Amino acid sequence: MSSNKPLDRFLRVRRRTAALCEPLEREDYTLQSMPDASPALWHLAHTTWFFETFVVAPSGIAYERPPAVFRHLFNSYYNGVGDVYPRERRGLITRPTVSDVLEYRARIDEAVATLLASDADPAIGELVILGTHHEEQHQELLLTDLLHAWSFSPVRPRYTDRMRSMVTARPVAWLETDEAIATIGHRPEAGFAFDNEGPVHRVLHPAHAIADRLVTNGEFATFIADDGYRRPELWLSEGWATVQREQWAHPLYWRATEDGWRRFGLDGEHALDEGAPVTQLSYFEADAYARWAGARLPTEFEWEAHAARRWSDQDGRHCIEGSSGVPQPAGVDDPQWCGAAWEWTSSSYGAYPGYRPAEGALGEYNGKFMCNQYVLRGGSCVTSRDHVRATYRNFFPTDARWQFSGLRLCRDLR
Ligand SMILES: [Fe+2]
Repeated sequence: MSSNKPLDRFLRVRRRTAALCEPLEREDYTLQSMPDASPALWHLAHTTWFFETFVVAPSGIAYERPPAVFRHLFNSYYNGVGDVYPRERRGLITRPTVSDVLEYRARIDEAVATLLASDADPAIGELVILGTHHEEQHQELLLTDLLHAWSFSPVRPRYTDRMRSMVTARPVAWLETDEAIATIGHRPEAGFAFDNEGPVHRVLHPAHAIADRLVTNGEFATFIADDGYRRPELWLSEGWATVQREQWAHPLYWRATEDGWRRFGLDGEHALDEGAPVTQLSYFEADAYARWAGARLPTEFEWEAHAARRWSDQDGRHCIEGSSGVPQPAGVDDPQWCGAAWEWTSSSYGAYPGYRPAEGALGEYNGKFMCNQYVLRGGSCVTSRDHVRATYRNFFPTDARWQFSGLRLCRDLR
């Protein structure tokens, strides 16, 4: 088990970010293919800005400050800190250069290490831990954003040489539960969690059965063959309008050829691996598939109640450290509660009863996004293994489909 002492975790996470960038060429660092996606250079600088802004600068320690414009360029959305540089223009930042940003990272690394090596105030350690989890969120975005940019390239670049496993997924087993009151949320004594995972509270859920694995590419191809994208009765109204407007006919990164579906991923383009979980789905597509299958999406509370009971050391073995970004099929012994794809739930992203955001600018981290987004649970093949847990709440708007996002089916038992 890796140490979670602040300095150990800090060094481990910062090293992993550097390792994830190793396959990149300089030309890749400033790519931005859409406003939602950021260039690698920006991710590297912004995660460092976070440590500088919330840990190093307030501590009063002497350190070599970057140019003042960094405060503006690499602020993502913290209005309490100052003006935010427009998100859609992050790809225009070529000065500071990659070398400048790597030097910035090294200087802030040194300052944080100095702070933690001395008799550090435990509050500083807590902020550093928050910063490491923030950086792990950006590690995942760095890869999903790069993949989105590369998806426009006819060269079909490859981030990893690791091949997908072509094994078939195990048959679905349904895990049944009677109507029950479930205890939901993160217990403070269980270690780090984001503020949106608490407070602990109770939720009534109906009698239901939940699938013990995710929906596969092969199963989703059957939905497409059954005209799933052309049948309005399967879609939410807004979803159907989006399908029409965007001309969606398959998941993002799929391509129809005479020889069948091909799918682009961090391992390049390959024939569709039918046993692997379907990913790069929007909420609308996940919801329509579930309706077509005579099922529904689980609520985030149903998901958590099952995952909390079944989460094991095996979960996460296909996370980024083990998979290099390739979704793996659910083998016979893979619980698949995380490490394959984030799972859309039917729960809109909101505050738990009694939720209070932190004081100051850090209170902007989660709370202000609790509107017009849906919750995803689990963790994907590009999530870090030590970043996820059964209470973790990811969230995206209903039409977002550039993440490794899929679904698990759920059915009412009546
Ligand atoms: Fe951020």
